[in-house]
Amino acid sequence: MPRGEVTGAAVDGAARIEELRRLVAYHAYRYHTLDDPEIPDGDYDALVRELAALEGLAAGGEPVEAGGSVEARARRGAGARRGAGARFEASEPAEAGGPVDGGGSVGAGGPGEGEVALAVGAPPSPLFAPVRHQDPMLSLDNAFSEEELRAWAARIGRLLPDATFSFVCELKIDGLAIGLRYEHGELVRAATRGDGVVGEDVTANVRTVAAIPERLALTPAPAVLEARGELYMTLEAFAALNERAEANGERRFANPRNAAAGSLRQKDPAVTASRALSFWTHQLTRLEGAPLPPTHSACLELLASAGLPVNPEIRSGATLDDAVAYCARWEAARHDLPYEIDGAVVKVDDLAQRRELGATSHAPRWAIAYKFPPEERTTLLREIMVSIGKSGKATPFAVLEPVVVAGSTVGLASLHNEDQVRLKDVRPGDRVIVRKAGDVIPEVVGPVLAERPPDLPAWEFPRTCPACGEPLTRLPGEADTFCTNADCPAQQVQRIVHFASRGAMDIEGLGEQRVTQLVNAGLVHDAADLYLLRADQLGELEGFAELSAANLVAAIEASKARPLANLLFGLAIRHLGDTTARALALAFGDLAAIVAAGAEELAAVEGVGPKIAASVVAFFAVERNRRLVERLTAAGVRTTGERAPVLAPTLAGKSIVVTGSLEGWSREAAEAAIKARGGKSPGSVSAKTTALVVGAEPGASKVTKAAELGVPVVDEAGFARLLETGEIGEVPSTGGADR
Ligand code: IVH
Repeated sequence: MPRGEVTGAAVDGAARIEELRRLVAYHAYRYHTLDDPEIPDGDYDALVRELAALEGLAAGGEPVEAGGSVEARARRGAGARRGAGARFEASEPAEAGGPVDGGGSVGAGGPGEGEVALAVGAPPSPLFAPVRHQDPMLSLDNAFSEEELRAWAARIGRLLPDATFSFVCELKIDGLAIGLRYEHGELVRAATRGDGVVGEDVTANVRTVAAIPERLALTPAPAVLEARGELYMTLEAFAALNERAEANGERRFANPRNAAAGSLRQKDPAVTASRALSFWTHQLTRLEGAPLPPTHSACLELLASAGLPVNPEIRSGATLDDAVAYCARWEAARHDLPYEIDGAVVKVDDLAQRRELGATSHAPRWAIAYKFPPEERTTLLREIMVSIGKSGKATPFAVLEPVVVAGSTVGLASLHNEDQVRLKDVRPGDRVIVRKAGDVIPEVVGPVLAERPPDLPAWEFPRTCPACGEPLTRLPGEADTFCTNADCPAQQVQRIVHFASRGAMDIEGLGEQRVTQLVNAGLVHDAADLYLLRADQLGELEGFAELSAANLVAAIEASKARPLANLLFGLAIRHLGDTTARALALAFGDLAAIVAAGAEELAAVEGVGPKIAASVVAFFAVERNRRLVERLTAAGVRTTGERAPVLAPTLAGKSIVVTGSLEGWSREAAEAAIKARGGKSPGSVSAKTTALVVGAEPGASKVTKAAELGVPVVDEAGFARLLETGEIGEVPSTGGADR
């Protein structure tokens, strides 16, 4: 596909419609059939909206209805489904045993054009047997603003002028849709959506997902119960999977949704079983042999009581204003969740109203997806450069045409290592997908191959250090490449920057730019040289005024009094983090004693493993490093500290999450206390959490998650006991936190 087609403007309307149809069909195929999208969802949505607008104009109608109609047809292949839906007319009584609501039915509007869809209706993967869905798996129409959300409500208001609507608001989970069929309480089939009519039989793989019950907890069990939901991967599981992939020299997954899809669509269920997949049920689609509840919210309660996971953030009984507020709230709070959402879904609660509203060929009229702004964008990869870290590690990074992603401008992004660049196959001159989810560091996901200029050469990892020109070394079996020249100016700069950083000696005003200036001027080569700097020397450098020179010298002087742990951390010893540095400082109380200690002695300290101990010994075995310590000591830097009695490792191997504010502890102090006793204190609750410590105004999602997973909850007194003994005392009630 030639470059520029995606955005090609100024073409005549009919030709552009044709072009857009092809593009939309092509990208829908990449997304659904190949599980390998080439462009971000946001770009895809933009194409769809442009097509919808042009089609609307061509038909002489309104430019765009709340988005999505074409999208739905294309991505779900609704055209191939034409007629299939007609079996479930809107008037079909659900009680007779059939689809639960108008979700699978084609209401008054009838099927739409569907041409795009026909092009997309690709055969399911040969890996899995095809399954024809009894009720077609429809899509959702999208709203991209409050205005569009209100326009949707106004539309359904016009369709049912006498109705008062109560809405159910849900998170739009960014995963993949799965339909589950239970017969007499037993899971008999699980299927992907496929083209909406025919999906793939993934029963064997879905059986390995712990969250999906084999048997429903309903007595008596209904003859048939079908539910749909979203299979997804938590951020934690995604990060762990990518870490493993990187360590094995495999390609990282682009995002949790791709990781979930890739993990499910495996030939061997054992592979799926090894990937932590989760599930939220969002629709009851068929119930036979049991009375059907009158509302969606009651259906969700039924599903939850049947043992299917139902998301705790679902709100029922909402007015339109409540729904608008729900969407806004989650748009702001989306990153507080331990999994990804790409929007919210607002649904009419009453099933009778749903049946009256029916569906178009591709989406029910009774629901709308409120889509959040995308967290992926495309931009030009200008260049790939290599940076040299404090340990000499050479890390490739992308220099991008700056692009605003998820609210911040991204111009640089790490490419991790040589293998990752090769696996991603990104080349300078490519258009690339850039992703930034929440606080997550921006990542280049991959190239938009359709837009790659012909003959674009692959990028080669440099053979020599860009800073010192010495050869770069990559040891066999290792992923990383190093500059091993200890005099490399780039390494010197990074080591000093680390030494001066907040967690280390905290020298105000000494950032990378200034350190580079000092190193380039030949004034400093290592951290000890900092303490020899005079204000008059600095005053001669560009950008330094008398006052700023004096301030920097004073800041350097002040750093001499930092605690021993900070100094030790500031030395940039490989594998020695701030926590382990603190543990060593407390255990030895003297830098000279640490320099003299053997590996065994070091490893005896709680939290210091053999790898760290060996690294510390190796560091001080180097003459240059011992000299550095001597010179720092001579300069008057504090090298001793209070020796604290080593705390009993009461929390070794335990994971304690803290939420809300505690009276006697700041959050940092609480976490440090946990770590000092060998425990971990991650930011979110998972099945591995030992206990959740709850203070005033706790995070509702943490409390709910703990309740769901059966994680014990303790208050401040319980926390003190936990620190001392490692035991979980009486569990207080979680009153106040809403479910
Ligand atoms: S209801 C008839 N509820 O979003 C359609 N869908 O873009 C019923 N999704 O195909 C879908 N979270 O895979 C519904 N809370 C939620 C959802 C949700 C995610 C997915 C679902 C659907 C797609 C539409």
